[in-house]
Amino acid sequence: MISIIVAIAENNAIGKDNKLLCHIPGDLKRFKKLTTGKTVIMGLKTFKSLPNGPLPNRRNIVITDKKNQKIDGCDMAYSIEEAVEMCNTDEENFVIGGGSIYRQFLPLADKLYITKVHHNFDADTFFPEIDYSKWKLISSKKITKDVKYPFSYLTFVK
Ligand SMILES: NC(=O)c1ccc[n+]([C@@H]2O[C@H](COP(=O)([O-])OP(=O)(O)OC[C@H]3O[C@@H](n4cnc5c(N)ncnc54)[C@H](OP(=O)(O)O)[C@@H]3O)[C@@H](O)[C@H]2O)c1
Repeated sequence: MISIIVAIAENNAIGKDNKLLCHIPGDLKRFKKLTTGKTVIMGLKTFKSLPNGPLPNRRNIVITDKKNQKIDGCDMAYSIEEAVEMCNTDEENFVIGGGSIYRQFLPLADKLYITKVHHNFDADTFFPEIDYSKWKLISSKKITKDVKYPFSYLTFVK
């Protein structure tokens, strides 16, 4: 099973200057809880944006075109197909970004965990357009209390 997990602004923005657009502590905790013990898949640019290297207690798969690129603590995939083959077939595998990786995995994904941030951000990276006719919303929770920007946890399955 392949799941996408992403924080998306109202204007579909997801990043700028290889950084996230905002830090939502509750969302980061939820991300950690959902992904710990699982496989996370990311593009090389997103890997480089991580402040402390590979995400601990998770199998990190990093996708790059650079065939000789190796990163300590990560498994390397040199194509989307290779990353899919490396997925654990018994459990959930999380695609964690960034834009180019989400775009290529969206048609392959079974589940979407979207944190919709109800704010427009200036950005250089955007989530691809979602054809909602292909997805069923299975849970939705809006958070408005004690937050800088209100946001909603939305979970969709195919
Ligand atoms: N809002 C969120 O939830 C969220 C989550 C994650 C990231 N982000 C943001 O997204 C932005 C980064 O996204 P991005 O699109 O610029 O970069 P990215 O998707 O993280 O990584 C792009 C790199 O992945 C490799 N790649 C992509 N497709 C490939 C393929 N088919 N085969 C082999 N390698 C492939 C290439 O590496 P090489 O150049 O080495 O070949 C490419 O340069 C940042 O701003 C980050 O903060 C947001």
